[in-house]
Amino acid sequence: MRTVTTVSAMQQLARRWQREGRRIGFVPTMGYLHEGHISLVRRARQAVRSEGRVVVSIFVNPTQFGPKEDLSKYPRDLRRDIALCREAGVDAIFVPADDEMYPADADRAFSTWVLEEQLAREMEGRSRPTHFRGVTTVVAKLFNIALPDVAVFGAKDWQQAAIVRRLVRDLNFPLRLIVAPTHRERDGLAMSSRNKYLDALQRAQAIALSEAIHHAREAVAKSKRPLDAGKLRAQLKKQIETRPEARVDYIEFFHPETLQAQERVAPGTQMALAVFVGKTRLIDNGAL
Ligand code: PAJ
Repeated sequence: MRTVTTVSAMQQLARRWQREGRRIGFVPTMGYLHEGHISLVRRARQAVRSEGRVVVSIFVNPTQFGPKEDLSKYPRDLRRDIALCREAGVDAIFVPADDEMYPADADRAFSTWVLEEQLAREMEGRSRPTHFRGVTTVVAKLFNIALPDVAVFGAKDWQQAAIVRRLVRDLNFPLRLIVAPTHRERDGLAMSSRNKYLDALQRAQAIALSEAIHHAREAVAKSKRPLDAGKLRAQLKKQIETRPEARVDYIEFFHPETLQAQERVAPGTQMALAVFVGKTRLIDNGAL
């Protein structure tokens, strides 16, 4: 497995693979890898077959963090990430320094942004107003660097995947986007690098998110008529917040592709939620 740290070396390697007729599967990450990330790597491998090449990027992208967010304490463990990637059969990891991605020269600072203007306004966008601008910009850059035929994203970040789908379509990136299912712990908690922040008590209370999705799914299945989104939201919020460390940021019911909010909740409606457990903000989603 190669470790590539510069944009030009990654592009050269990708071009060489293209000339050899190899398909490139790409999994962008911010590192501190877990089984959820590795499931995306496996999906990428499956898509490009053994003769293809799989690239994982590890870059904690500063532009998608708000000024009060956890950029400086975002967990990192490159040695472990490298070992996990090697074990998973990754061909190259792209690990650029911050100033390789965002040149820091004072008079010619980075000034070009990729902005999705519809889907990015909802949910995470409301709580984190500059987040998706950072995501779409870095993802567009990474696509231009790794030159993938196939890119794999996780359903865990449903809104992000929907926005990247729009980005690929609107800007004609010549690649196929695969969205792979959310990988969970045994008790239902969606795997996330941020779970590391939770102490034992908070970890126990963090199942509130997947449990809320489960409850909503049951309520929808039991009801003969569509449910009122406001009432269901209030019920779920109350259940979640019986746990002393849990505070709901949002609970949304929406169309799975357009992300348009739905007043009536029925089978096929997508639900997403963000909950602070202590100081850690966790997200999850699922189809109802
Ligand atoms: P990160 O949070 O590291 O996630 C990288 C990819 O792994 C994303 O596509 C995410 O949806 C997926 N993922 C995370 N947890 C998962 C789980 N439990 N099951 C399945 N997939 C999971 O998302 C980002 O990084 C960044 O925004 C990035 C796209 C890399 C841009 O900086």
